[in-house]
Amino acid sequence: MQKISLVILVTGIVAAGMWGIGDYMSRKGEEHGDVSRGQSIAEQTCLKCHTKFAGDPLPDPTVTSAPALASFGQRWPLENLEEALAEGITVSHDNMTMPEFSFTPESIADLLSYMETLTREADAKSGQ
Ligand code: HEC
Repeated sequence: MQKISLVILVTGIVAAGMWGIGDYMSRKGEEHGDVSRGQSIAEQTCLKCHTKFAGDPLPDPTVTSAPALASFGQRWPLENLEEALAEGITVSHDNMTMPEFSFTPESIADLLSYMETLTREADAKSGQ
């Protein structure tokens, strides 16, 4: 009796998981952003402090701790940023606080697509 209900439970979790992935994939397709729009958003916002690639000259010499945009996708799934951007990302450092941004889902998709291309470029450069 115990065993049967466990099997049902496990099947339920797998089904829910697959449904979740399918849902995610279809949403991802829909929300596929526009790289060039993403680039202009990044230029107007993020690239005032962040570099594109590690080792690029700093856009603002007073901001030395902002990691390269390309490094985000190399370190964690860029999807993690989606929620952060939607909720208004804030990152603070001792004396330097990142301004709070709020974006529409479209501009977030654009921005993430742009960062994805940066990450791919950085990976290609480092031979990964
Ligand atoms: C005013 C300068 C400034 C702007 C503009 C800015 N950032 Fe930042 N950002 C920083 C700094 C400085 C840090 C590092 C904070 C630290 O070291 O704790 C940072 C850190 C981050 C981090 C955390 C990185 C990590 O490795 O944990 C993310 C993600 C991030 N920024 C994304 C963005 C995005 C996306 C934009 C554009 C929408 C943006 N930032 C615009 C200054 C800025």
